[in-house]
Amino acid sequence: MKASEMFAALFVLVYSGSYATLAGEGKKEDLECTCENSYCVNDTCWGQICYYTSVHERIDRGCLSSSEQCYVPVVPGVYSKCCFTHLCNANLSMPETTVGKPIKLILLVGVPLLVLSMAVCGLVYWLRTKRQHRPLVEHETSMLKGPCGGDPTYGDIFDEYCTSGSGTGLPYLVQRTMARQISLAHCVGKGRYGEVWRGTWMGESVAVKIFSSRDEQSWFRETEIYNTVQLRHENILGFIASDMTSKNSSTQLWLVTHFHELGSLYDFLQDSTLDPEGCLRMCLSITSGLVHLHTEILSTQGKPAIAHRDLKSRNILVKRNGQCCIADLGLAVIHSQSNDYLDVGNNPRVGTKRYMAPEVLDESIRVDVFESYKQTDIWALGLVMWEITRRTNVNGIVEEYRPPFFDVVPSDPSFEEMKKVVCVDQQRPSLHNRLHSHPILSTIVKIKKECWFQSPSARLTALRVRKTLSKLDQDHDYDIDKLKLDL
Ligand code: ADE
Repeated sequence: MKASEMFAALFVLVYSGSYATLAGEGKKEDLECTCENSYCVNDTCWGQICYYTSVHERIDRGCLSSSEQCYVPVVPGVYSKCCFTHLCNANLSMPETTVGKPIKLILLVGVPLLVLSMAVCGLVYWLRTKRQHRPLVEHETSMLKGPCGGDPTYGDIFDEYCTSGSGTGLPYLVQRTMARQISLAHCVGKGRYGEVWRGTWMGESVAVKIFSSRDEQSWFRETEIYNTVQLRHENILGFIASDMTSKNSSTQLWLVTHFHELGSLYDFLQDSTLDPEGCLRMCLSITSGLVHLHTEILSTQGKPAIAHRDLKSRNILVKRNGQCCIADLGLAVIHSQSNDYLDVGNNPRVGTKRYMAPEVLDESIRVDVFESYKQTDIWALGLVMWEITRRTNVNGIVEEYRPPFFDVVPSDPSFEEMKKVVCVDQQRPSLHNRLHSHPILSTIVKIKKECWFQSPSARLTALRVRKTLSKLDQDHDYDIDKLKLDL
């Protein structure tokens, strides 16, 4: 059985178990357990197994529906135990070996160790802030507001787990415990998909996407992919946890990820403009994320190839260092050439009509060939680059933000309206004259045109786009260095 099939089987077992428990549907739940977390309705709950977890001294007690959910590898700061008798988790706590000994040891070695660790922490903090401030200094654009810094960090717990397990995710029980320790602060986005909230976990900001019940397949798919595929990449939205809970007898589906305060690329472009270097940095980072998704890596820490199928500016987030990361894997397809495996999922959702490639609109796409899905991503990548270049200032000229095909279809266009424009009339977004006069932007214009060929196989690959943009980036750095020397 392949890893992802094994996960799918386990996944159905684990989550369908939760469903039965949550909905109270005819499943034999014969064990009463102490319930102590923010989701408990009563002091006790019913399940197959009782558990106790402590994640950085925050305690969670409750019920589980399958023993697979108990798996938690040994990691500092995390203690977990499952038990199988009536109210057996009521008096569980961190054992003496985990709590008492280290405290005695700390007291014994005491002050010198504390002083030493404070000095080391201070040094590490100083080095970190120094490193985090570098990217914006190097690529300073007056257009990017907000504090400097790279990716958010969420404590050492991620570093501890990062290399364990097959996917990007923490063990199931840890994800669940962490998700339940989050306090939601305010809603930052709302749509057909559900809502996105800014929340805090252990004092750090996290994003919580709460899926609408009709989009549960997207939650299952995204959770499956993040938990089975090694997806850590600076241009892919960082995953923290997935959780399914019951509130007032309805199911709540959460996806917890890194929080990016500048929001989506769509939001960012509404009232911010870029200079050509900032534009290149964004386009290159999005392309790098797409190359990582599209590429199958053959090694023990490898990954299958993934096509996104709903790439658009609303599904891309802007980071403080001027790069972007790709979000929303709810519609993604997975392919492994080495294992002769194509998994298109069973999500009834389709991509966003405005960004659909001609072969999707005229239904000529070869749905059994993985390459086809990558080629539709490239079409959408060209449209995203078009949105970015409109907001790029060249010779003091910049255009208003507009979505692709704004001038030829109404808002929320129908499938037929898009098909007429893209397939029958074969129209493409217009490109402002100013773009041809700048070395960076004229190259991006050329790339966009080659992302929009009617014939899918004629389009550029993500790898080819990245190579061209990287070269542009290097040449630009070289020109700047030369300029500095001349000065
Ligand atoms: N909107 C959607 N996802 C987000 C995230 N991860 N951070 C900030 N805003 C978002």
